[in-house]
Amino acid sequence: TKVLVIGGGQNAEHEVSLASAAAVAAALRLGDHEVTSVTIDREGVWRADGLPNGGTVADSLAQALPLLARTDVVFPAVHGALGEDGALAALCALAGVRVVGSALRAGAIGMDKWATKLVAAAVGLGTARGRLIAADDIGDVEFEGDVVVKPVSAGSSHGVSLVTEEDRLLEALREAARFDRRILVEEVVRGREIDVAVLREKGGIRWAAPPLEIHTAGLFDTATKYDGSARFTVPAQLTAAESTALKRAAIALFDALGCDGVARMDFFLTDGGPVLNEVNTMPGLTAASQVPRMFAAAGVDYVDLVGRLVRAAV
Ligand code: DAL
Ligand code: MG
Repeated sequence: TKVLVIGGGQNAEHEVSLASAAAVAAALRLGDHEVTSVTIDREGVWRADGLPNGGTVADSLAQALPLLARTDVVFPAVHGALGEDGALAALCALAGVRVVGSALRAGAIGMDKWATKLVAAAVGLGTARGRLIAADDIGDVEFEGDVVVKPVSAGSSHGVSLVTEEDRLLEALREAARFDRRILVEEVVRGREIDVAVLREKGGIRWAAPPLEIHTAGLFDTATKYDGSARFTVPAQLTAAESTALKRAAIALFDALGCDGVARMDFFLTDGGPVLNEVNTMPGLTAASQVPRMFAAAGVDYVDLVGRLVRAAV
């Protein structure tokens, strides 16, 4: 199968997206796929071997479109805005090209932590109580106890702060506002941090891999996500009832959003059961990322996993 792997992208997760794309491309080659790699640089310029690599963003996209037209399937390993949010899936759909992962709707809703929370609550999942604040109104927000402040749409914890002191609140809101003009102020959820990945195979059967637990000294923040200090336990040590509740919750959200490919749902496991934190419709896919580790625990190694994602899309 001819696969066009796209990496990079125009957001704060650019570097992570390069790493995911490189890992995906290498694994697909091992799986005997014919791989072409394209990188979207930080300014949005599409770059690939053989492209003129000059001119405007629009020029570069026009030059890259024939690559899309000539491939069997696109693997958009781009996290965050203008990638994971459905933008690349939409471009492929408009071009009539098959694409790995979720389509526009699931990508767009999943990238929006507020919309995801509404959908999750509507299908009966626990979510943190939260308020939506417009960036224009951050001066009016009052401190009512510990909160997590986050941009509605961002990834890898960029712009996220835990606020436990009143005089840090405004700073946290300003930081979140650098990433999105909609800001979420959520009550702090205390619980074990557990990720669940759901894969939709060719033919439509979807299943959840064994959950993974994240252990960090403090917050699982942007630094901890990529400095190698976080430890993962996979499979997480859970009772059968806990594992079932987490997997059911993850699949319920996967279905409600209409996800495709693989998605990773991040939960807090509290005394009252799973509380959804957020969903990633194009989760980190480096060899060290959670999703490959969870599927490895299910006996699906990385080459097999990316192969299944491609097969599901063609
Ligand atoms: N947003 C990062 C890449 C993740 O979900 O792993
Ligand atoms: Mg995320």
